[in-house]
Amino acid sequence: VANERESMYLVSEFAQKYFHSTLLNTDEGQAIGYSYFKERGFSGETIKKFGLGYSPEEWDAFSKEALGKGYNLEFLEKTGLTIVREDGRNADRFRGRVMFPIQSMSGRVLGFGGRILGNDKKVAKYLNSPESDIYHKSKVLYGIYHAKQAIAKLDNCFLVEGYTDVIQLHQAGVENVVASSGTALTPDQIRLVNRLTKNITVLFDGDAAGLRASLRGIDLILEEGMNVKVCTFPDGEDPDSFAKKSSYDELIAYLQNNAKDFIQFKASLLMDEAKNDPVKKAGLIRDIVNSISKIPDRIQQEVYIQECARIMDISEQVLISTLAQLVQKDI
Ligand code: CTP
Ligand code: MN
Ligand code: MN
Ligand code: MN
Ligand code: MN
Repeated sequence: VANERESMYLVSEFAQKYFHSTLLNTDEGQAIGYSYFKERGFSGETIKKFGLGYSPEEWDAFSKEALGKGYNLEFLEKTGLTIVREDGRNADRFRGRVMFPIQSMSGRVLGFGGRILGNDKKVAKYLNSPESDIYHKSKVLYGIYHAKQAIAKLDNCFLVEGYTDVIQLHQAGVENVVASSGTALTPDQIRLVNRLTKNITVLFDGDAAGLRASLRGIDLILEEGMNVKVCTFPDGEDPDSFAKKSSYDELIAYLQNNAKDFIQFKASLLMDEAKNDPVKKAGLIRDIVNSISKIPDRIQQEVYIQECARIMDISEQVLISTLAQLVQKDI
């Protein structure tokens, strides 16, 4: 089984080189893929660093090449790179897409995300490698290989939604950044970060989905005993689009001025509508206390209780007894 996985790694690494070289060294790759990345503002250096690629608009160009080089069809199929059809014809999974290789903490290629070139709403924008013995979507963070040193050094990790958010921020000089890749954040993903730092700043898209994902992510991060801040973006912006149009100084200032701890974030989110409505305000306070109940450390809980009492203008005693009720319900 270890050998099988090694064979899957090797075929994935071959695929990464093939897509990268197709991007750089073919007319189609240059005209379609490379110019797409350039339009998004990615430099040649960035494209190399992240090993970005292009899959040609052909039925089985990649599979043919791989088989010709002696790679086994079994592993091409197991990694999902080749789809073996009932009539025996092989099809490439990724065709006519720009390719984002997904790497492990140690830099091995586990799978790919492939993006269509336009914004055709009828086709799924991103196609990803299927789950396999080497690619477990819920245990991977995109960009972790390139971010791990900066995360440890700066003792903070920015968490974004997408591939291009990671790449654009990285190019802008913010290197301590990883992406959950659109899936709901999982405990396994948070534990990967926990090996490098106790501090996560969530930077999800400035839309309803991003907001919902941030709220869900907060409790999961607290449950792992980590500190969580949230920085939101203007409506319709994501970290990629925001970083692309900002200077480095503007970007850093924005992140610094808008990162709120989870209590301030939740409070500001609902405060406006809840302010003059005692029932809503009570609901919001319960919601915050519920998040505080996820924190494993009692002293840290106490500190957040104090902060919540101050921000929401309510006594610590009431919060503490509410917290005790919640904890009791859990047992
Ligand atoms: N995603 C996915 N499949 C989709 C849509 C999204 O796997 N059909 C994942 C991708 O990893 C994507 C992330 O979810 O990067 C965030 O989605 P979204 O915000 O819609 O895309 P962006 O990353 O902003 O992509 P782009 O800027 O290229 O439009
Ligand atoms: Mn994915
Ligand atoms: Mn989005
Ligand atoms: Mn986005
Ligand atoms: Mn985007």
